[in-house]
Amino acid sequence: MNKENNNESGVTDKYGVKTTPGKEFAEKKGEVVLREHVFDGIQEYDQKMPNWWLTILWLSIAFFFVYYLVYYSFGLLPTSTESMDARVEAIAQQRVDAVKRTLDSLDDSILVNQWGSDTTILAKGQEVYNQHCVACHAPDMNSNNGLTARPLTDGVWHYGDKPMDVFNIILTGTPKDSEGYKMMRMEKWGEKIGPEKVAQVTAYILSKNPDDFAKFKK
Ligand code: HEC
Repeated sequence: MNKENNNESGVTDKYGVKTTPGKEFAEKKGEVVLREHVFDGIQEYDQKMPNWWLTILWLSIAFFFVYYLVYYSFGLLPTSTESMDARVEAIAQQRVDAVKRTLDSLDDSILVNQWGSDTTILAKGQEVYNQHCVACHAPDMNSNNGLTARPLTDGVWHYGDKPMDVFNIILTGTPKDSEGYKMMRMEKWGEKIGPEKVAQVTAYILSKNPDDFAKFKK
């Protein structure tokens, strides 16, 4: 109905729409202009967009620049990817810290009673053993009757018979001042697989020698 009001000088086309001749775009509210171009026999009307619509358009465009500058040009605020990464990293760090605290407080009793009775840890320890130790110590831990390494089932713990002694010899390998065993030495597994896996495989080995460590069992 605005058409009627604002468009006194218009011409009515064949569809009954009053258009303003001689203009390319509508300038006033309610004005209708028939654009000149024709595509596939189709011609377009132009009308002024309502202000509420234009306001949203220009505000969105302005918001883009602010957003782009804040997040990407100056990095004033972390993007969602960055804050996500930071959180994932924080969780990973917490895990590392937790493992470190556990290892710091590791002792004979914890090794035998906590790590050694946790089936998940023992399964991991077995995995470590099968991957890294079985070549020399053999599946039955007898080290091929002591041919390829010290047997782990003979009741003799050359570097100390406490659970932590076993942990330490695996962690740090044959000590510098030791002549090893039959001219063989063991490497530092702590450096290769890390203390957590060493503790797991220690728990596994202890669990296979229950008599040797019975006095630590609660
Ligand atoms: C390349 C061969 C080899 C591999 C692989 C190996 N060891 Fe050994 N291990 C030895 C030798 C040799 C000794 C004796 C070292 C010594 O007396 O100084 C030994 C000694 C030990 C001892 C001390 C035994 C005792 O009677 O005091 C433990 C425990 C042990 N190994 C555990 C492990 C574990 C756990 C792994 C896997 C993470 C492993 N070993 C991998 C060769 C190996």
